[in-house]
Amino acid sequence: MIWLIGCKGMLGTEVSKQFDKNNFDWVGTAREVDITDYQSLKSFVSKYDDANKKINWIVNCAAYTAVDKAEEDIELATKLNTLGPKNISTLCKELGAKMIHISTDYVFDGTATSPYTEDMNYKPLGVYGETKADGEKAVLETIPEASYILRTAWLYGHYGKNFVFTMINLMNTKDKISVVNDQFGTPTNAENLANVICTLITKSETSEIPTGIYHCTDLGQTSWFEFAKEIHLLGVKYGKITGNCVVNPCTTEEYPVKAKRPAYSVLSKDKLMKNLNITLPEWKQNLEEFIKNIQ
Ligand SMILES: NC(=O)c1ccc[n+]([C@@H]2O[C@H](COP(=O)([O-])OP(=O)(O)OC[C@H]3O[C@@H](n4cnc5c(N)ncnc54)[C@H](OP(=O)(O)O)[C@@H]3O)[C@@H](O)[C@H]2O)c1
Repeated sequence: MIWLIGCKGMLGTEVSKQFDKNNFDWVGTAREVDITDYQSLKSFVSKYDDANKKINWIVNCAAYTAVDKAEEDIELATKLNTLGPKNISTLCKELGAKMIHISTDYVFDGTATSPYTEDMNYKPLGVYGETKADGEKAVLETIPEASYILRTAWLYGHYGKNFVFTMINLMNTKDKISVVNDQFGTPTNAENLANVICTLITKSETSEIPTGIYHCTDLGQTSWFEFAKEIHLLGVKYGKITGNCVVNPCTTEEYPVKAKRPAYSVLSKDKLMKNLNITLPEWKQNLEEFIKNIQ
């Protein structure tokens, strides 16, 4: 049985949907099982010690994801992003279960000029990236033989706050907006990442998928400004944007925020595509599908 932790977050909700679609045997928890409290995790698992219901996978989608707030909320960000995954991996070790843990492109500083591969050095720029990097390391140290770290980026989904919904909302209410045009990465539809999680679980039941770090985003690259322009184009096309908002480019300097972001965080997906024998969708294709289906 699979235990999905953080099942009510943006990604967790998509993963829940895909688990149901794939008829997986799974159970989900949200805040009621606190990942920062080992006893809370252990007492939940004790309900599943029956041989038929034994937990053999834990997927962790819970995290502290408020990148700017983390700069001042270091203690909680560290508890959720570092201690949480450490607790979960320790429990996996006890159970003999495998773990999928979600991480981020923000473990890098953005000075690369070609896509980051999984073996490149950690160099986070802020508290969020630092605590996520430490979380990865804790998992890899605890269960190197049983853990998969999936680093993703620029995630959006149908549930919860994200860039696509924020842009659509602004584009419906403002005459003009400015969006940063000097940070490059890859938008990722959470449904696509949820599909990859399902594929990873299914395939590793029948073949040996090497454990370790994998990068998983949609394909291609863009800037936040170009991403916003595409949202505008598709939003108008599918009747989700009705105003005449003008989208202007601006620089990172012109749009100050608390946490420093990597200027370039495109991730190479070659390892994932090769080891799982899959191809990933282009970000524009996924975005169109997403916007078309917004209720
Ligand atoms: N969003 C992005 O652009 C992005 C980019 C790269 C990587 N990622 C990574 O992707 C993963 C999923 O992100 P997301 O955007 O889906 O995050 P999210 O929507 O913020 O979901 C995180 C979930 O964790 C839960 N949570 C908070 N504290 C908890 C605790 N003590 N115990 C158990 N659960 C707790 C939250 O519960 P509440 O709902 O009650 O707060 C929330 O449902 C994270 O690992 C994140 O770092 C995200």
